[in-house]
Amino acid sequence: MDVKAAVAYEAAKPLTIETVQLEAPRAGEVLIEIKATGVCHTDAYTLSGSDPEGLFPAILGHEGAGVVVEVGAGVTSVKPGDHVIPLYTPECRNCDYCLSGKTNLCQAIRVTQGKGLMPNGTSRFSIGGKPILHYMGTSTFANYTVLPEIAVAKIRNDAPFEKVCLIGCGVTTGLGAVIYTAKVEPGANVVVFGLGGVGLNVIQGARMVGANRIIGVDLNPDKRALAEKLGMTHFVNPKEVEGDLVAHLVELTNGGADYSFECIGNVKVMRQALECCHKGWGESIVVGVAGAGQEISTRPFQLVTGRVWRGTAFGGARGRTDVPKIVDWYMNGKINIDDLVTKVMPIEQINEAFDLMHRGEVIRAVLTF
Ligand code: APR
Ligand code: ZN
Repeated sequence: MDVKAAVAYEAAKPLTIETVQLEAPRAGEVLIEIKATGVCHTDAYTLSGSDPEGLFPAILGHEGAGVVVEVGAGVTSVKPGDHVIPLYTPECRNCDYCLSGKTNLCQAIRVTQGKGLMPNGTSRFSIGGKPILHYMGTSTFANYTVLPEIAVAKIRNDAPFEKVCLIGCGVTTGLGAVIYTAKVEPGANVVVFGLGGVGLNVIQGARMVGANRIIGVDLNPDKRALAEKLGMTHFVNPKEVEGDLVAHLVELTNGGADYSFECIGNVKVMRQALECCHKGWGESIVVGVAGAGQEISTRPFQLVTGRVWRGTAFGGARGRTDVPKIVDWYMNGKINIDDLVTKVMPIEQINEAFDLMHRGEVIRAVLTF
């Protein structure tokens, strides 16, 4: 079938809206009509050419929501008409990783996904017979896309696509970091570095689990109002702190954070996030993605004296199990997504959506088809 997609032909060039041919889903695959998709920094990172694993030509996009149109042989967990969210972290419930119960990093299709291919080793997208690669196994910058069955989460049918698409990445990453990775307990003091689309969801996750102090750290004072609306109790602008930021945060938290979250992708800030944690038990979670080749450092004494440094991908969420619950939280008013969708635009304006994100003018721009 012919589909409308934003194609990334090469690094650092604008995307082009094209008519692309999409093959029918094969065994174990699902054809989905994408109704809305967010634009995320990871798409921009790959498009910039800095992503060593970025491949072209490809159809980017990984923060979508849509409807199942057709299923391939052997597919049992979804049927045409089901509303779904594509998962760049799938959940096969069968591999060693899934069965460990200790991680959400399902490896069932990792190798082919990383190559921009479906699990059988080929692409479903092409233009004039030349293959166009998938991206993160999702390729949501197309009005129709094919995904493996294990990479779709079935959600309720009354959730608005242009809001719940963010649960495909930013919302789940932030909330999940608090709930699934750190398992923040009521009364904990929390410090969140970076109040963008990810950090704001850490803030509302911390509020949801009943954290005590929720301190947001951001260089941009414009981030304060929305963060407060979502549950931030104290705002710290590093530019306005006299003396050492870490010492200031330790003082604000009565000896250090029980949990801190780095939601920027800056390795210097990752160190500050670890070192503002409470001696003996404070845990720092790396959520932001640093550039290729960057390294973190601290004095080992920080760990010897009980601080814990860990990371999270997709918020530690098991997509098929946890994503439908997060959609329910939104529908029941437990979390706010409406205020995170700064702008809704047609897919034709996708390059403008990237520009808005680069200029920091949106928490999220959402594209519709
Ligand atoms: N100290 C404090 N705040 C900072 C600093 C700094 N050194 N540098 C940047 N910030 C703030 C920005 O002002 C912005 O508000 O961090 C925030 C980052 O937000 P966004 O750019 O909206 O990014 P977001 O979508 O939240 O993603 C954050 O997670 O998914 C990854 O790749 C993504 O690494 C990125 C991170
Ligand atoms: Zn698995």
